[in-house]
Amino acid sequence: MYSKYLRYKAFKTISDVVTENNVQAWVVGGFVRDIFLKRESKDIDVVVLGSGIEIAEKIAKQIGKKGEAKYFKNFGTAMLRMREFEVEFVGARKESYRKDSRKPIVEDGTLEDDQNRRDFTINALALSLNKDNFGELIDPFNGMEDLKAQIIRTPLDPDITFSDDPLRMMRGIRFASQLNFNIHKETFKAIQRNAKRIKIVSKERINDELHKIVLSAKPSVGFKLLEESGLLKLIFPQLLELKGTEKREGKGHKDNFYHTLQVLDNIAKTTDNLWLRWAAILHDIAKPATKKFDSVNGWTFHGHEFKGAKMVPAIFKKMKLPLNDKMEYVRKMVLLHLRPIVLAEDIVTDSAIRRLLFEAGDDIDDLMTLCEADITSKNKDKVKRYLKNFEVVRRKLVEIEEKDRLRNWQPPISGEIIMEAFGIKPCKDVGIIKTAIREAILDGIIGNNYEEAYQLMLQEGKKLGYTAVN
Ligand code: CTP
Repeated sequence: MYSKYLRYKAFKTISDVVTENNVQAWVVGGFVRDIFLKRESKDIDVVVLGSGIEIAEKIAKQIGKKGEAKYFKNFGTAMLRMREFEVEFVGARKESYRKDSRKPIVEDGTLEDDQNRRDFTINALALSLNKDNFGELIDPFNGMEDLKAQIIRTPLDPDITFSDDPLRMMRGIRFASQLNFNIHKETFKAIQRNAKRIKIVSKERINDELHKIVLSAKPSVGFKLLEESGLLKLIFPQLLELKGTEKREGKGHKDNFYHTLQVLDNIAKTTDNLWLRWAAILHDIAKPATKKFDSVNGWTFHGHEFKGAKMVPAIFKKMKLPLNDKMEYVRKMVLLHLRPIVLAEDIVTDSAIRRLLFEAGDDIDDLMTLCEADITSKNKDKVKRYLKNFEVVRRKLVEIEEKDRLRNWQPPISGEIIMEAFGIKPCKDVGIIKTAIREAILDGIIGNNYEEAYQLMLQEGKKLGYTAVN
């Protein structure tokens, strides 16, 4: 946490230099908003009437950091580190947009032009850094009132603000979710009208906002707004397919969209791990594809965990989410998400616990967190019973882990040892013997050690017609 004094010092230093150079400057945007919201923010945006680059150079010299400011000549901006703050200097601009692009035509402008081009009233506040009115708030769109009333509203006609830069529709919903604010009715209607324009925004930028929604304290706020606005259908249609219930022969099933959002809100209370939260979003994604009805069992979603795990790479690819270990982690969580629940319903056997430890590896604790979040029943007794059984599963996991050390485990007999022992080349039989040893250890038939595994290897080899060469 930075102190108010340090913030003042930084503002004062900038103020002194701009005054000396007869230039006017203001702190603008998110940093000003966050001062009033008492949120920690380290990125200061400074707008100057003139060249941001020249002023940054002079301030760098003044604070003994000559040559340390970074310039982005194409954008006319400069970045300078001032103690704990990253300060960006930019000349005041006026922007006009073309229909087919997010890239505006930029001209020099006044502070007023600069405030006009901003996305929301709460982001259009400015604090003066000029000597004659240092610290004065310039708030042409009553942003302070909106801050107090917790309202997200565009400063100008919302149709223009969103059509100019459709990413702002995502930003508006993101702020509503992060800050737990309401979007003003007219602003929201304009998002609904302009939703289709989101297609000119890159998926990477959309994801940046989506991740911030996912990471907010109650992400369902953002997802419900995405749904109502029509944006969800365009950016993440698979999630919307979970919406709705159906009744046959008097039997219904829960709405899996709202269930998923509940699971996401639950998990948000216990973890800030972005990808675990994504696993919560995707855990039931294959329910629509596996849904069946018959008179005896009612509605079933058999195999939705397998099908869901298979869908993860395609969804990540289409949405341009990272196709790396993060995706692999989410895929694994979706695949395994029912396993602890099954264990909690049944009598917990050592071998079932061993298998789970073997398959989940280091992610076992995250998997348990996901499963606990997945209990959304309204029946309090049922919830209590599940949570109690999970405690048993957790205890058993610790016991077996201490005894067998199965996390990231490799069976004691490798393929090489098998080939050497029987004098054979790589072939299917090596795999058969290896699997038999692994299964026997996981089932507790033999101990997790080299000697017992070697003996079993000899027996299994014999069944396939091999004898040891020495
Ligand atoms: N801004 C805008 N339209 C955008 C992006 C940004 O008008 N599409 C303006 C807003 O005034 C915003 C400021 O630029 O406050 C800085 O943007 P940025 O740093 O992206 O966001 P913050 O509002 O600071 O919020 P956060 O740091 O949470 O992303």
